[in-house]
Amino acid sequence: MKILVTGGTGYIGSHTVVELQQKGYEVIIVDNLSNSNINVLSNIEKITGIHPEFEEFDLIDPKRTSEFFKKHYDIKAIIHFAAYKAVGESVENPLMYYGNNLYSLVNILKGMKENEIENFVFSSSCTVYGQPDELPVSEKAPIKKAMSPYGNTKQISEEIITDTIHSKSQKLNAILLRYFNPIGAHETALIGELPLGVPNNLMPFITQTAIGIREQLKVFGDDYQTPDGTAIRDYIHVVDLAKAHVVAVERLVAEKCLKKPEIFNLGTGNGYSVLEVINSFEKVTGEKLNYKIVGRRPGDITKVWANPEFAEKVLGWKAEKGLDEMTFSAWKWEKAITKIK
Ligand code: NAD
Ligand code: WQD
Repeated sequence: MKILVTGGTGYIGSHTVVELQQKGYEVIIVDNLSNSNINVLSNIEKITGIHPEFEEFDLIDPKRTSEFFKKHYDIKAIIHFAAYKAVGESVENPLMYYGNNLYSLVNILKGMKENEIENFVFSSSCTVYGQPDELPVSEKAPIKKAMSPYGNTKQISEEIITDTIHSKSQKLNAILLRYFNPIGAHETALIGELPLGVPNNLMPFITQTAIGIREQLKVFGDDYQTPDGTAIRDYIHVVDLAKAHVVAVERLVAEKCLKKPEIFNLGTGNGYSVLEVINSFEKVTGEKLNYKIVGRRPGDITKVWANPEFAEKVLGWKAEKGLDEMTFSAWKWEKAITKIK
């Protein structure tokens, strides 16, 4: 069975391609390499023994996207990762984010209609919940006004997919996966996150500081209403996340006509503070991290973690890897890529 993975050379996409191939699926990747590297393909091959089929183009190009789908009419399902994802950049350049994330989605949905491809998995984010009123947050929690243009592209994308299903103009089965905070890397350290420039996210900033690329990690705020005063998130190992995509595809292919998009939170159900992540990193790596507490980062919420029960009940999926495994694999990956540089 042939699965299209858009953004498949990126961080979460590459781990998902590995899991799909290891389950016997044929994968074709589309990526414009705007935030990833072509070498990822050979590293995937080193892990799985299979070089994934690959086409390099920009999914915001309607003609190119339509031609692609005509050529690959035998695709059975699509996992759509391709998007820009830097919150701060989206505030500075909203049209870049609306343009890329929304046009590419529309082009893919049109291509699916033209070629009667029915099954679609979409990368959404826990950012749609903002600061939830109740924790852990379930899929029934209200969507809050987006805090950034990036977050808004996820909310609008969910609406575009929902409207398309309801319109009945096209037969579409969709699963929306709301990721919490993916971190870590594949155990082989052959694939992982490749942040361009200065990382915004906590984990790559920690590993880059420990290896000497950054001088010091700034911990944004220790005056939150949390046990140690630092903000709490639900960090999830990227390999656990990747596995959820395989079961989502299997559910779509097995059960036609879901009639409305199914939404799943993908988290562990455990919240960890920034200081707990740092402590785990120092413990499993033996490295001493240079960090200092500074003021809060504007736009950050205090705490969020998932209620992952619906995913377990319906998909039979549950995150298995703990925080120490996440921080250890992130460090192994940092050491591997810094050696290459
Ligand atoms: P990533 O940047 O590593 O991967 C995205 C890939 O898409 C990149 O390889 C990039 O080159 C490609 N791409 C972007 N725009 C494209 C276009 N127009 N045409 C073709 N290729 C294009 O990001 P990631 O962390 O793997 O995230 C994957 C998805 O998951 C994104 O939709 C992101 O918004 C979502 N998500 C990520 C996180 C996170 O913390 N990493 C959390 C929640 C949701
Ligand atoms: C985690 C915690 C920071 C960096 C973002 C997006 C969200 C989603 C995941 C895509 C926070 C603290 C961080 C640093 C720090 N992405 N921190 N020093 O903000 O939860 O979510 O990525 O959908 O949409 O907003 O993740 O990794 O940036 O931060 O103290 O240098 O680490 O304040 O408490 P966040 P993050």
